[in-house]
Amino acid sequence: MKFPDGFLWGSATSSYQIEGAVATDGRLPSIWDTFSHTPGRVLNGDTGDIANRHYELFRDDVAMMADLGLQAYRFSIAWPRVFPQGVGPLNEKGLAFYDSLVDALLEKNIEPMITLYHWDLPQALQETGGWQSRDTVHAFADYAALIAETLGDRVKHIATHNEPWCVGFLGHWMGEHAPGERGNLKAALQVIHHVLLSHGLAVQAMRAIRPEADLGIVLNHTWSHAASDSEADIQAAHRHDGFFNRWFLDPLFRGEYPADMLALYGDDAPVVQAGDLDNISTPIDFLGVNYYTRSVVADSLKPPLLLNHLRGEGPRTAMDWEVYAPGLCNILTRIHQDYHPKALYVTENGAAYDDVLDATTGGVHDPDRIEYLRQHLEAAKCAIDNGAPLKGYFVWSLMDNFEWAWGFDKRFGIVYVDYASQKRVLKDSALWFRELIVHNGW
Ligand code: FCB
Repeated sequence: MKFPDGFLWGSATSSYQIEGAVATDGRLPSIWDTFSHTPGRVLNGDTGDIANRHYELFRDDVAMMADLGLQAYRFSIAWPRVFPQGVGPLNEKGLAFYDSLVDALLEKNIEPMITLYHWDLPQALQETGGWQSRDTVHAFADYAALIAETLGDRVKHIATHNEPWCVGFLGHWMGEHAPGERGNLKAALQVIHHVLLSHGLAVQAMRAIRPEADLGIVLNHTWSHAASDSEADIQAAHRHDGFFNRWFLDPLFRGEYPADMLALYGDDAPVVQAGDLDNISTPIDFLGVNYYTRSVVADSLKPPLLLNHLRGEGPRTAMDWEVYAPGLCNILTRIHQDYHPKALYVTENGAAYDDVLDATTGGVHDPDRIEYLRQHLEAAKCAIDNGAPLKGYFVWSLMDNFEWAWGFDKRFGIVYVDYASQKRVLKDSALWFRELIVHNGW
C-alpha cells in the first residue's frame, strides 16, 4: 500500500490542549480557562493551566517530531496570547512564541499548518457576546490578517477554524464545551453562521496580504448511516447528514444553507444579512476533514432533528466511539464528488485507548491504535483511488493532552505523556507511524 509521491504526513495538536503557561508573557484567559475552572464542567476538575508545558518545552517537542520523521505539524494559535483582549493592542511576547515555533519547525524541515481558532476565544470577547456578536466576526478577521502579515512569510497552510460544529452545538446547545450554554439551538446556529462568516472574511483579508498562501477551513465530519433500509430511516440519515455535514459544506462551497434544514430549524435558523453567504463561500485552497467515527441513526419523533442515535456494532475506543473506517472513504469521496474542493487533507484522525506505561519494557503497547490507524489509512487510500484530491494526513494527536471535557483522562497521543514528570514516551503506534512515513505506506 503506497501513497502518492509528495503525500504529506503529519500530526496535530491545539494550543489550549498542550501549551499550559496560561498567564505567561501577557496571555489573558480564554473561554476555556473560564470553563475548565467552573466546577463540574471538566472531568476530575482538570484544566489546561499546565497541560503538557509545551510553551516551555516546544523545542524538545519539535526535536521529537523530527525524530518521528514528521513532515508536517498542525498546531493552533491561542488568540488570547496574540491579542489578550481579542482586539488590539498586539502582545509581542505572545506572538514571539509562535514565531519561534515556526522557525524551529522549519529548521527541521517540518511544514507548519496553522489553525487560527481551535476554540480558545479571548474571554474579553465572550463578555461582549462571543460568537453570537457580529463584532467577534470582524475581530477574527483582523487577528487573521495579523497572522498572515507576521507568520505568512514562512507558513503556507493556514486554516481559519477548527470544527465550527463543535463551537456552535457543543458550546451552545449541548453545553459540553465552552462557553457551556445549554439548550439554545438558535444561539448555536447563529454562532455557526458568525464563525463561517468570520472564516470568509478572514480568507479575504489573508488573501489580500499573502496571495500565494494555501487557505482553508477544518470541519468535523461523520458518515450518517441509516439504521435500516426503511424510507423513514434513510430520511433520518439524510437529516443527520444535513445537521452534521451539509450545514457547513453547502454554505462554504455553494453559498447557501440546505433548504430542508432551514425548514426543519424554522425560527431557530440564523439571521443572515445580505452578502453573508457570498462572503462565506469565498474560494478556498483546501478543506481539512476531521474524522473519528460514523453515526447510526433511526427516524423518531424527537425534535428538532427527528432522529435517534443507535449503537453501531463495531469495536469501540476509550471515548466509546465506534471504529468504522469505511466512513472516512465514504465522506472524502462524497465531498470530492459533491463539492469539488481543490485539495483535501485529513487534518485529524486517531483514537483514545487506555494506554499504560509498561514497567518492564518502558514502552507503551497500543496495538488497538495501530489497527485503528491502519484501517483509516486504507480508507484514505480508497478515497484517493476514487479520485479525491487528498494531499496529506495528520494523526490526532502528536501526544496525549487535555481532551476538553474529559480532561487528561483520555489519551489520544501516539506519544505518551507522564504528566507528573512531563516525560514523553513514544508509543508503539509512534514507532509504527515513523516506519509508515519512511515507506510512504507499507
Ligand atoms: C476533535 C478536536 C480535537 C480533539 C479530538 C479528539 O473534535 O478538534 O481538539 O479533541 O476531537
